[in-house]
Amino acid sequence: MKYFTSAILLLITASIAVNVNAIVTGTYFDRIVFVIFENTGYTQAAADPYFQNLTSRSNGLLLSNYFAVAHPSQPNYIATIFGSTAGITDDNNHNVAGNNVVDLLEAKGVSWKAYMENYPGSCFTGATAPSGSHLYARKHDPFISMNDIRTNSARCANIVPGTQLDTDINNNAVPQYVYYVPNQNNDGHDTNVTFASNWFKNWLEPKLTNPAFTTNTLIFFTFDEDDGSQNNHVFAGLLGTPVVPPSNHIDATTYNHYSFLATVEKNWNLGNLGRSDVGATTFTQYLVHP
Ligand SMILES: *[C@@H]1O[C@H](CO)[C@@H](O)[C@H](O)[C@H]1NC(C)=O
Ligand SMILES: *[C@@H]1O[C@H](CO)[C@@H](O)[C@H](O)[C@H]1NC(C)=O
Repeated sequence: MKYFTSAILLLITASIAVNVNAIVTGTYFDRIVFVIFENTGYTQAAADPYFQNLTSRSNGLLLSNYFAVAHPSQPNYIATIFGSTAGITDDNNHNVAGNNVVDLLEAKGVSWKAYMENYPGSCFTGATAPSGSHLYARKHDPFISMNDIRTNSARCANIVPGTQLDTDINNNAVPQYVYYVPNQNNDGHDTNVTFASNWFKNWLEPKLTNPAFTTNTLIFFTFDEDDGSQNNHVFAGLLGTPVVPPSNHIDATTYNHYSFLATVEKNWNLGNLGRSDVGATTFTQYLVHP
């Protein structure tokens, strides 16, 4: 009886381990890695050699008419996972009720994590960290503002420091939905777009040689908002084997942050949140599942 029980426990443990790594196949990609930068108008970012280089690659695409949805920063981040700005018009701490992308992902078994550079972990809810610094800023972490994430310990544990991504790559355990927020130096907020693109190059290039990161992965990078002078026109690019670009590597369709959410929803047939994600144009025109 004792051995029998142990055997069953082993079987249960094994099947849980398998489920953690199960991949939900998408229509266009099996993983999306979203990286968001700060406060730069389209023309400044489009002039940056590294951002130009990325979108010109054989599997790169420039989204040349992509728009942020608000000022200042925070409502843009909220929009990417909530489908509206939730009425937020500032960068103060807010607690947001209602469903969000995590509810949709979890309902279909799509794994997710929110990687926040310099996040102290343990469901930290303060405005900035580490103490005496402001490298992590809650205004750039929409997940902690969602009531059904912040008050749910299992979900809250999926908000992790940025360094966790390399660990997850080494363990071949990168989730299917990766939302990556560089700290306020690396994202250009307290620096500039040159600093941000140098950081991105050093961060991204080694990962591009690792199948645990790249297999059927769509990498999507953009800016939260412009510099206040370009009607919120921001730079946005796609990279990865799911991208089959036209010869000029440009998709000039008009998109915005709700397009990102709608693309995720469409890829995994998640349904929608019933907000501005409904009817948002998805950037799937030049995507083909590898
Ligand atoms: C991007 O930069 C790399 C490294 O400098 C270079 O080898 C590659 O040719 C560049 N690609 C494009 C499309 O400019
Ligand atoms: C960014 O700042 C550095 C110095 O910190 C400067 O060399 C560089 O030209 C700046 N880039 C832009 C696009 O302003």
